Amino acid sequence: MNATDTSHLSKVTPPRLLAMKTRQEKITALTAYDYPLARILDEAGIDVLLVGDSLGMSRLGYPSTIPVTLEEILIHLQAVRRAVRRALLVADMPYGSYHVSSKQALKNAFRLVKEGGAEAVKVEGGSKRFKLVNRLVDAEIPVMGHIGLTPQSIHVLGGYKVQGRTPDSARNILEDAQQLQEAGAFAVVLEGIPRGLAMEITRLISIPTIGIGAGVGCDGQILVADDLLGISFLPKPKFVRQYVDLKEIISGAVARYREDCLDGSFPSEAESYQPEGNLTVKAFTRKV
Ligand code: KIV
Repeated sequence: MNATDTSHLSKVTPPRLLAMKTRQEKITALTAYDYPLARILDEAGIDVLLVGDSLGMSRLGYPSTIPVTLEEILIHLQAVRRAVRRALLVADMPYGSYHVSSKQALKNAFRLVKEGGAEAVKVEGGSKRFKLVNRLVDAEIPVMGHIGLTPQSIHVLGGYKVQGRTPDSARNILEDAQQLQEAGAFAVVLEGIPRGLAMEITRLISIPTIGIGAGVGCDGQILVADDLLGISFLPKPKFVRQYVDLKEIISGAVARYREDCLDGSFPSEAESYQPEGNLTVKAFTRKV
């Protein structure tokens, strides 16, 4: 990139992600759930912002992503929409919002696009989502797949377990990625799989792979932003790199505020309003 090249500042779209894969440019992605953080991440040049259903665990205190509703995603999506200019804005379809029928899935995906301003949706599952992805793409909705350790399937998987560690499981995940590409997905999240497998999938498919706990060989990386910022009460998975301890910084600031309130040093005179001219208390207190 030379000094006058501003391509890194222009709008990110699904075709642009594809072009980035072709040019072997790394794709950066993070979750976003609210206006201020989404604005910071967008202005920092993150390519993809995902209003993920991890919202349920990170911000709403749910024990898993299973209880998250479409309405909850919509509220957070609308806040993020108001902040984002450049990044591709992807919305997660929460558990139960695409499992009943393609009619239900289409209706819910339309809501995310029309009411929430999403530019793409993400669904979990591979080969079994072939028809669904096809229908969504047919309705002009770009779809990001999500395979490997899919958190909406924890009851079936028996917990948050790394997938693709046996030859059969690895083969199934590769087939899932190929089927998603075939169905028209524009990218696929690879979560919780061995790095060698992720690297091989990345080599064998032409759509970008976005890894989380899938090693360095993917076309891009995604993390839950709260994890890298250290603002989470959840156990930190092995693959998370925490860049700052915001929880500690916030606790320190709040403790200082509390002390200042208690000892009367807050608010100071400069932090208080003064009357106009030389208005005295006498001038506005009633005579008794
Ligand atoms: O919900 C989420 O945050 C996700 C990403 C971590 C891929 O699905």
